[in-house]
Amino acid sequence: MCGIVGAYVASGDVVPGLVQGLSVLEYRGYDSAGIAAVIDGELRVRKRRGRLSNLEEALEDGGLSGGLAGIGHTRWATHGVPSDVNSHPHQGASGRVAVVHNGIIENYALLKRELLEGGESFLSETDTEVLARLIDQTWAEEGTDQAALMRAMRRALGRVSGYYAIAVLATTDDGTCLLAMRQGPPLVVGTTEDGGFLSSDVLGLVPHTRQVVYLEDGDLAQLEPGRLTVTDAAGDVVERPSREVEWDPSDSGRGGYPHYMLKEIHEQPDVIERTCIDRIDLASGDVRFEGGAFDDAFCNSIERIQILGCGTALHAGQIARYLIEGLAGLPVEFDFASEFRYRSPRVAPGTVALAITQSGETADTLGATRLARELGARVASICNVAGSSQVRESEATILTHAGPEIGVASTKAFTAQLTAAVLLAVRIARSRGTMSEDEGRALLTELSELRPKVESLLTQESVARTRDAARTHAGARGFLFLGRGVNFPVALEGALKLKEIAYVHAEGYAAGEMKHGPIALIDPGMAVLVVNAEGPVAEKTRSNIEQVKARGGVTVSVGSDGASHAIADSYVPVPRTSEWLSPILNTIPLQLISYHIAEIHGCDIDKPRNLAKSVTVE
Ligand code: G6P
Repeated sequence: MCGIVGAYVASGDVVPGLVQGLSVLEYRGYDSAGIAAVIDGELRVRKRRGRLSNLEEALEDGGLSGGLAGIGHTRWATHGVPSDVNSHPHQGASGRVAVVHNGIIENYALLKRELLEGGESFLSETDTEVLARLIDQTWAEEGTDQAALMRAMRRALGRVSGYYAIAVLATTDDGTCLLAMRQGPPLVVGTTEDGGFLSSDVLGLVPHTRQVVYLEDGDLAQLEPGRLTVTDAAGDVVERPSREVEWDPSDSGRGGYPHYMLKEIHEQPDVIERTCIDRIDLASGDVRFEGGAFDDAFCNSIERIQILGCGTALHAGQIARYLIEGLAGLPVEFDFASEFRYRSPRVAPGTVALAITQSGETADTLGATRLARELGARVASICNVAGSSQVRESEATILTHAGPEIGVASTKAFTAQLTAAVLLAVRIARSRGTMSEDEGRALLTELSELRPKVESLLTQESVARTRDAARTHAGARGFLFLGRGVNFPVALEGALKLKEIAYVHAEGYAAGEMKHGPIALIDPGMAVLVVNAEGPVAEKTRSNIEQVKARGGVTVSVGSDGASHAIADSYVPVPRTSEWLSPILNTIPLQLISYHIAEIHGCDIDKPRNLAKSVTVE
């Protein structure tokens, strides 16, 4: 949700690197983009509403070329409509300070009133301009050099309530100054001999360096070529650990696919295998996580699990509930992280709060797990980003090895979360003795051999079948996705995908609940996708297909249950596997159907309207 970058290079031109950084962060918001750079001691800004390409056009005048230090921003609008003037960077009255910001300044209205009363004037409707003017004004009181600017930053931000990751570029009496400060949203920094770099996430840094430092809340960092200085909230200089990033710069490309989403869908065979293969111990029919995470002592101390997450990640959490309850016999609850925070949750002794999150930076998920910890829970997570806030705040983590996910609609991160959830459920079940060695071995063997089945869903022929289904139903007035048991959340996820990228109204429903309401919607204009795998609930779900047909509805059966295919109007077959693993397979054709419907409707698949991938504000 808003991406920020900054760089101070030893030679050359800083702008191309900033543009490149913004291009990989565009998934965080694409309402506008802007850059500030210091050229011949003067701070200059270019910013444009809309996609980064608009900014690139504006930069063609060369007015920002040749500078060594700069900051950039890609916006997901919170305060003020998307417009040139509301775009970041914002400047103070002196024209010597520019600010880019990811987050929300909650008391901006109060601060703005004070500044207005003091004679300041504002150009934009944003909370960020308040920050820029406040920092600038405070700097004028402190002095004119870099040390004064840093004191001013601390003082000004001490008056702010809210969440922010900011980068500040200033022309000071003693040179050019690039600063970054964090309170909430993520900020990573890195330095090489050639430059100092900052970014909202590691993807923005990997073209420059794989050694990155995650700033902590309250940190203020100064970046120069080859030099990083960090002071903590108390103002003391601190050494933050640097980590090696495994992701490759090429991971952030489209790899020849027309969209990131399609590329990421096709990466799933690798991702699922990477997430499970080294953790499966077939000899003992058990799972071994790195560093002994979720060992017997930890698993046996769990009395109850509270799953927390948002969006697609919470759907993975709902499936994890079926898995852990079904295999390990533990009570599991799940909640929207945003709701958990604002009800009065009761956290029983022995609770583990399990956060599921791709980014590890979702504000609500972080907030909910912090609350759970305050209420006595231990915190664990399933997360895709090593070094993220969620991982750092967890006692035990299962990293999903999905690699960077750029498409705003989550695909490979979801199936990686499902894979991790299977591993976790087996680990707890084996530790608590609710699953025998043979049972563990059987399920894990099936998981380790899932790859060809996943691949079979991505052959040209299989993809063509989903495209045909999309063509047949793209004109439907609405979509109902039905599933039962462990495949009920798959239906929720199928509907969410379609809403997100094709802007078609879709509802996911528990198949058994259909007759308690949604059945009234059934008519020939409504497409009903039924997810059904062989297993104990297959027959009941088949009855739901019959009920829809009896009312003139159009049914598509997705899954491995051949008997469902026989009665539905059309079907998309999925290979047979254990019912516990069926969500991983059943999800893939649903992703493809949504993708193709979005394509037919001419939607911007990787950048769906109004959405942002990493929701770092509430
Ligand atoms: C946003 C994204 C979703 C994602 C959710 C949670 O809404 O658009 O794709 O599932 O955030 O994100 P997280 O990073 O916590 O998994």
